[in-house]
Amino acid sequence: MKTNRTFTMIKPDAVANGHMGAILDQIIKNGFTPVALKYTYLTPELAGKFYEVHKERPFYADLVKFMSSGPIVAAILEKENAVAEFRTLIGATDPSKAEAGTIRQLFAKSIEANAVHGSDSDENAEIEGNFFFSAFERF
Ligand code: PPS
Repeated sequence: MKTNRTFTMIKPDAVANGHMGAILDQIIKNGFTPVALKYTYLTPELAGKFYEVHKERPFYADLVKFMSSGPIVAAILEKENAVAEFRTLIGATDPSKAEAGTIRQLFAKSIEANAVHGSDSDENAEIEGNFFFSAFERF
């Protein structure tokens, strides 16, 4: 299996609820190596741009408001088959449907406040990582 990269954010709910350390611990214990990491925030304009692909969906305005409501952690992670492996680790988008032991089942409150983001393809992982990090900010 090829080593590749995915992109994640620890979302405002999880940071505000004090889960940042526990989530990073789970990520690293599960074999993901952070190659870029920052504590930051999205303005409404930046959140709107990041989630532009969802702009026709009914929850877009709420999602943008939520994602710009407080600090987040952004990271690029490396592991074999990173995108798929990370989506397995975080569990279903709706935490009430997430498997036991997944990050969303453990730390998320709702489909909106769902603790973490994980890229859905190698191509989007690259785009999303580039959205947050310049070349000299990643290993
Ligand atoms: S996914 O992971 O892309 O397959 O999930 P998807 O269902 O397409 O959702 C895309 C992102 O929108 C968020 N989402 C919502 N936010 C607020 N309210 C509702 N109802 C809602 N449904 C989905 C979901 O958390 C995804 O965010 P990211 O950051 O991509 O995980």
